[in-house]
Order: sequence, then C-alpha cells, then structure tokens
Amino acid sequence: TTVEWEAESYDMGGHDTYMHKEIAEQADAVDRVLRGRIDDRFATVRLGGLNLDPREARTMRRVKILGCGSAYHAGQIGAQLIEELARIPADAEPASEFRYRNAVVEPDTLYIAVSQSGETYDTLAAVQELKRKGARVLGVVNVVGSAIARETDGGVYVHAGPEVCVVSTKCFTNTAVAFALLALHLGRIRDLSVADGKRIIDGLRKLPGQIEEILADEPRIAKIAEEFANAKSMMFVGRVRGFPVAKEASLKLKEVSYIHAEAYPASELKHGPLALIEPAVPTVAIVPDDDLLEKNRATLEEIKARSGRILAVAHQEQEKADDTIVVPRNEVELDPVLMGIPLQLLAYHTALVLGRDIDKPRNLAKSVTVE
Ligand code: G6P
Repeated sequence: TTVEWEAESYDMGGHDTYMHKEIAEQADAVDRVLRGRIDDRFATVRLGGLNLDPREARTMRRVKILGCGSAYHAGQIGAQLIEELARIPADAEPASEFRYRNAVVEPDTLYIAVSQSGETYDTLAAVQELKRKGARVLGVVNVVGSAIARETDGGVYVHAGPEVCVVSTKCFTNTAVAFALLALHLGRIRDLSVADGKRIIDGLRKLPGQIEEILADEPRIAKIAEEFANAKSMMFVGRVRGFPVAKEASLKLKEVSYIHAEAYPASELKHGPLALIEPAVPTVAIVPDDDLLEKNRATLEEIKARSGRILAVAHQEQEKADDTIVVPRNEVELDPVLMGIPLQLLAYHTALVLGRDIDKPRNLAKSVTVE
C-alpha cells in the first residue's frame, strides 16, 4: 500500500502542477529551514531537536547516511558536506542495500536516516535494524511526527512544507540545506574555524535570493527543454560536489519525462559511457568554478569531439557547451544546493513538452511503504 495524499486540500496557488508550484516555492522553503537556527555569536547553528551531545559529536569516527531515491541523493550531498566542514569520514548508501547486506554496525558511527515522508519502508526498516543493534540513529525528515521521525533518537526537520508532486524538488533542496546546517554544527564543535563558520553562514543567508535569480531564468530553460524532449537518452555528469547533483537531475528527468538518462562521474566517462555519446544523446554537465573547473572543461571537450550536444550548469559561460545556464556564485561547499534547481526546471519543461502526467508519473508513488 502507499500513503494517499489528499492533494485537493492543498491549494495550487495559480500553478498548473504541484511540481511547478513546489519548484517556485524554494526560496521560501530554504528560508524556513534556516529560520531561528543561525547563531552568529558562535558562528554556528542551533539544532533544537538534534539530541547529540557535543562530546559524542567530537568522538564519532564516521557518519553513514541512509535513504532512498532523492533522499539518498540529498544524503550524498550531506555526506560530502560533513566530510568537508566537519572532517568526519561520511558516505551515503541506499537504505535498502544497507539493510540487506548485513552491514557491520560500528559503535562510534553516527547513522542518519533521510526521508521526505518519514514513512518509506526500506528506510524505516534500516532504522529499526540499526536500533535493534544499539546504534545511534538520527533523522533528517520533512514530515513532523512521521514513523522515521518517531523511531530516531533526534534529528533535523527539513521544514519544506507539504510536497504533493511525486517527484521531490523543494524537499530535496531543503534536505541538502539541512545537511549544511548539520555539517556546520558538527564542524564548529570539531575543527572548523570561526572564519569558515561565518563564511558558510553568509553563504546560507544568500541562498533564498540566489534561488529567486535562478528561477527567473525559467523561460530560457523552457526553450532548451524543447530540444531535449527529442533526446534518445541523456547523460548527466559532474565531479565530486557535482556528481550527486548529476544523479538527482538524471533521476528527476527519468521520473517525470520518461527519457532514459544516466549519471556518471565526469572522470568515468572515458571508461565506458563515452561510447554512447552522439548527437541524439545530449549531456548535461555540472561545471562549478571550483578547483575542478579545468578538469570539467576537458570533459566538455571530449564530449564535443564526439559531436555530443552539451548543456552546462556553471558559474560562467562555457565555450564548449551549446548552452550554459549560469547560476550565482556562493561558497563552493553550497554549490550543490543551487546547481540542481535549474535542472528541476529542465525536467519539468521536458515533461511538459512531452505531455506527461507531471504530478503523478506512471508506476511511481510518493511514498513507498512496502518492501
Ligand atoms: C519514492 C518517491 C521518490 C522518493 C523516495 C523516497 O520512490 O517516488 O521521489 O525520493 O520514495 O521517499 P522519502 O519520502 O523517503 O524521501
């Protein structure tokens, strides 16, 4: 069975679909996840429900993040943020895989379950298995009082508000921001400097305004989507911070447009997927102005040499790309939060051109409460 949403009870506010409404709401949503949490005095954030002793935060040796679908991808962004800001080894894994492989449960590992609904069976079952084995489990959850929120020892609410469209947009973005808050909090208990704490806080405060800037580019993205609607298949590539963004954008496109898409680390292209590149298989490349910019530019050249069409999401126009969606600069650690947003619009407009059932894609449910 699946959880039935009473979609009628939520006003569409003049939008044709919930997906469009929820994409458009993201500046407000991010504002909500930040509200009341920033602590300028100590250059950190306060997370009231976290329930994690500072001593524990200092002594933990690993973080393992579990979720499904978009929640898993947001968890991958979260793992990178925790490694970067708190210097704790962290990684994310699909909750179902974790559950079935009889994973080693370590006493000094913090486990974090991620879920929009808080009801996904695989994620809940992973939490229950971990608790049975005595692990410390926190939740990064959107729905207050949901099963996962209740079963975890504490956590961070995502505060995205109700998300009705089956494919996640605002909740994905807010979950990534919630992880930035958690990473900052852990970092400032460990070795992150006051200066870096302030730098991230300034970056967080800029997000809502920058999201509005990105959303203002919608007419151009809609035009690009008209071409992409004819694609046979699509490649999404990125490096390190850009890779989870590529994975989520690829998932979004598949879910809502039914166009086949693959996401790869840009560095892995040459180890196989380059064989797929041809004019009917366009590539979307995540190209932030970070220390990997030159490497990513080399990837664009490789694709161009195989006459593949390229859309870059970048901080400046990319010469080798056929189109570039320029997003505003923030702190590099926060790039993944912003770079996924134009690609939500790309998925939406591609699905619109193809006449898809945007809010209820075939074969999918908002919340999968069965095994
Ligand atoms: C389903 C939805 C996905 C979602 C995943 C996890 O598969 O179709 O969009 O990302 O469940 O849902 P959760 O509520 O746990 O975030």
